[in-house]
Amino acid sequence: MCGIIGYIGPKASDVVMDGLYKLEYRGYDSAGIAEYNPNTLSFDIFKEIGRVEDLRKTIDKSYETNLAIGHTRWATHGEVNKINSHPHISKDKRFIIVHNGIIENYKRIKYEYLKDYNFYSKTDTEVIVNLIEHFSYEYSVLDSIRKSMTILEGTYAILVIDTKDNNTIYFAKKQSPLLIGIDNKGSVLSSDLLSFVGVCDEYFSLEDNTLGYVRGKELVILDILGNEIKPNYLKLGIKEEDINKGAFNHYMLKEIYETPFVIRNLISKYFDNDDIVLNDDLVKTIKEASKVYIVASGTSYNAGMIAKYYFESFGHKEVSLHYASELFYDNTYIKPGSIFLMFSQSGETLDSINVINKYKGLFKIISITNQEESSIKRLSDFSINLYAGREIAVASTKTYVAEIVMSLILAFSICDKKNELRQELTNVALAVDKVLIKAPICNAIAKELAKSSYLFYIGRGLDYYVAIEASLKLKEVSYIVSQAYPSGELKHGPIAVIDDNTPVIALITNEATNAITRVNLKEAKTRNAKCFVISSEAFAHDNDALSLPNVVQHLSPVVLGVAVQLIAYFTAKEKNCDIDKPKNLAKCVTVA
Ligand code: F6R
Repeated sequence: MCGIIGYIGPKASDVVMDGLYKLEYRGYDSAGIAEYNPNTLSFDIFKEIGRVEDLRKTIDKSYETNLAIGHTRWATHGEVNKINSHPHISKDKRFIIVHNGIIENYKRIKYEYLKDYNFYSKTDTEVIVNLIEHFSYEYSVLDSIRKSMTILEGTYAILVIDTKDNNTIYFAKKQSPLLIGIDNKGSVLSSDLLSFVGVCDEYFSLEDNTLGYVRGKELVILDILGNEIKPNYLKLGIKEEDINKGAFNHYMLKEIYETPFVIRNLISKYFDNDDIVLNDDLVKTIKEASKVYIVASGTSYNAGMIAKYYFESFGHKEVSLHYASELFYDNTYIKPGSIFLMFSQSGETLDSINVINKYKGLFKIISITNQEESSIKRLSDFSINLYAGREIAVASTKTYVAEIVMSLILAFSICDKKNELRQELTNVALAVDKVLIKAPICNAIAKELAKSSYLFYIGRGLDYYVAIEASLKLKEVSYIVSQAYPSGELKHGPIAVIDDNTPVIALITNEATNAITRVNLKEAKTRNAKCFVISSEAFAHDNDALSLPNVVQHLSPVVLGVAVQLIAYFTAKEKNCDIDKPKNLAKCVTVA
């Protein structure tokens, strides 16, 4: 959730601040930086509540520095205020730390090791920095970090400065991502590849339970036993132009507009003419599985509902779908010979990582992510890339569609209709182009929705699954309370809260449920609901709010998905919301 970055090299403060802007989508309650001040020969710490831009205004620009570490926060322990924001400093002021992750046993550590300390913040992080200091009276810095690691329970990626040394950043990692890049200008350590763009061309990703330091350009990485680890560098595959907004005002809109490219990209990556191209062992594993467990969170879970339908309908598989955060704590019986399909655009969602760690070795794990490099990918037996390009808006859009399309490719890979899919996907990419042309109609619907504080999306079958995602998207970015119901369920209770002008939006892309869903909408209209229909052109009525290009039924969630994303976007815009960084959210949920 939080983002951390450190840099040793020229203009370190500028590099860290640029990096913080790029990391901001991971958390944006507050931000802070610690940097070496060559005038005072000491470290300055600046913190600010709010955005990185707010922090920038507070920084002393009168000197240049060679070393800085920074943090952008999504608060977990301790409310959002300057005191709780990072960096944190130890009691005797020797160590400064930034931390991403959660220390579960921090209260016990306070009691067992740090009884005499008066903690100034409510964070778990302050415990780490003091634990390191506690050991430093007896051990070297590296050994103090190592000893602390054997005590800390939970997740962490930490960067630590020893204030006696202005040329070294120490680090340690367990379960939270930490990447390192070194080039002829300097060394950068960060939780996210994005902050490497424009800084260095190669990076590598640290394994769990490793620690070490960067001193100038010297890099030492050790495992917890003290064995040295050689870095395995990879080429950075992201360019500056991949991560800016281009002509769009918001990343969310830009990313929705990228959907047709995302679909075409998946076609080019996973087809050779009409044949699906996937690793043979992967296909065999899915084919032979006695049951498929789809596991995900949030929007990825909502894509998983559609994936379940695909695997059941086309793959003829028994499928069960689970929230990662639930499955980890459940005693769910897992059928022998099952496989796990983990959907996660970020590849870093801790709830999913916990599930993988629980079942790894017992069942084959297949992950579907949008990251060339991620913890979930590394932990899986097979990994599938969505190639959707970076998604920077906090609300997922294009990756939701990519997950749906990829799951259809997987389901078709084990059925005998495989040859039809390429054409169907080509058609759906064209259909999405046409939906995007209808953005002004989505905007007009949004202007109406923006007048309400709560509303309903309804649909049946696949339309209901999209209704769930439509509701989540709208809630996330516009803060309107939206609930999704199978249209036949409205009358079984929720209709009680419908009153004058409650918007009810019916999604209808299946001719078989067209008439009955309209009957259900009529029931709401009779109670004075303000009704909207989004339907397929083939059976649209004259007064439907929006009609969508016809596509083969099983791909209707793609066109419908894009339409409801546009409606969510324009509703948030109408309400002047902070669309790319909605309140209380963060892109990458690395806490359980
Ligand atoms: C919603 C959204 C979240 C994520 C969820 C899982 O727009 O982005 O609901 O879908 O936090 O994240 P991933 O897919 O990265 O595992």
